[in-house]
Amino acid sequence: MSKKPILVTGGAGFIGSNFILDWIANHDSPVINLDKLTYAGNLRNLSSLKNDPRHTFVKGDINDLALVEKLLNHYKPYAIINFAAESHVDRSIHGPRDFIQTNINGTFQLLSAARAYWEGLDGEDKAAFRFLHISTDEVYGSLGPNDPPFTETTSYAPNSPYSASKAASDHLVRAFYHTYGLPTLTSNCSNNYGPYQFPEKLIPLIVLNALNRKPLPVYGDGLNVRDWLYVGDHCNALRLILSKGKAGVVYNIGGCSERTNIEVVRAICAILDELKPSSGVTPYASLITFIKDRPGHDRRYAIDARKIERELGWKPAERFETGIRKTVQWYLDNMEWVKNVASGEYQKWLDINYSDRGTS
Ligand code: NAD
Ligand code: DAU
Repeated sequence: MSKKPILVTGGAGFIGSNFILDWIANHDSPVINLDKLTYAGNLRNLSSLKNDPRHTFVKGDINDLALVEKLLNHYKPYAIINFAAESHVDRSIHGPRDFIQTNINGTFQLLSAARAYWEGLDGEDKAAFRFLHISTDEVYGSLGPNDPPFTETTSYAPNSPYSASKAASDHLVRAFYHTYGLPTLTSNCSNNYGPYQFPEKLIPLIVLNALNRKPLPVYGDGLNVRDWLYVGDHCNALRLILSKGKAGVVYNIGGCSERTNIEVVRAICAILDELKPSSGVTPYASLITFIKDRPGHDRRYAIDARKIERELGWKPAERFETGIRKTVQWYLDNMEWVKNVASGEYQKWLDINYSDRGTS
């Protein structure tokens, strides 16, 4: 490898794999991809890179300090982009332990290895090195209907074990910058959607259930609001932050697309009615079922993305209406991928999360 690579963690997951595909399409520096391959990691997402020497996959845990140190010293990346995490709020409610282990302890181990590696670099290499930590808007807590969107200075107020673990990891990243000078960057983004998202999350779950003519589960009254960000727009923002972002700085990334959950579900149903009319005359929306709410369910998230627009010139290209259509079409075109992820462990999760929820 002549060009220095980047080290991506969690690159077999939803956003990480989209990022790697996007990176390889836009860059000539190679990617080392460290991923534990939990239930959420899927190398099929990266099958188009199978024979591409610019992608090297390493199966491993960010908690494995010796492995991370070995990778850093061997490949000498100029940046680390940390996507590795347990990412599903409902799973964090049923079993928070893995979230503490990966999101907090794992980030700490990764930061420790990065710090030792960075301190050993010289001159230009040391100045150019970056550690980009991918975080979430959920660390800011929940907004009321008329509150202004989250900015980079909104106080942290995490409400789920997932968001608390992400908040802790953000604080560690901040501390490594302030205490040791490690050149970190943090991005806090809103709900992503697009290709390769594991169908435990709202949008792919609704598409799959609808195609299987199963109930479409909507928590509570369906009026919780999320700010939907197309994953391709997120990847563009991350490339910009990496190349132009200032060390020690936080950037919020949002889709400018606040929608209630019921609006999202109805939008998916309408697209499916058009693209894949069901055999009967009933519209997909007739499958919508309101069920018992998520405990501690945050009411509204919304991102103020003016800082990244002002400082780095980024804006989302996709509107929700165009992004959701592309996404539904992607799932329809990739039913083999869907079949592969929707078996075994996934079916067990559906039982755990949905069997005793009844209707609300
Ligand atoms: P994901 O669950 O789809 O993927 C996570 C990946 O990390 C998987 O490939 C998994 O195998 C890997 N992983 C888990 N534990 C690991 C460990 N200990 N060591 C190495 N690899 C490990 O998650 P995603 O939706 O792609 O999210 C990526 C990142 O973005 C996460 O940090 C998440 O908190 C953040 N985020 C996600 C969203 C979203 O809407 N999906 C929004 C905001 C922030
Ligand atoms: O805001 C960013 C966060 O977005 C990320 O940090 C998380 O990693 C990501 O999972 C996502 O969290 P959410 O909890 O918002 O996403 P999820 O897709 O699980 O749920 C979206 C909304 O839909 C939420 O209000 C809960 C609701 N929902 C979800 C599921 C799975 C339902 O009504 N029914 C469902 O079956």
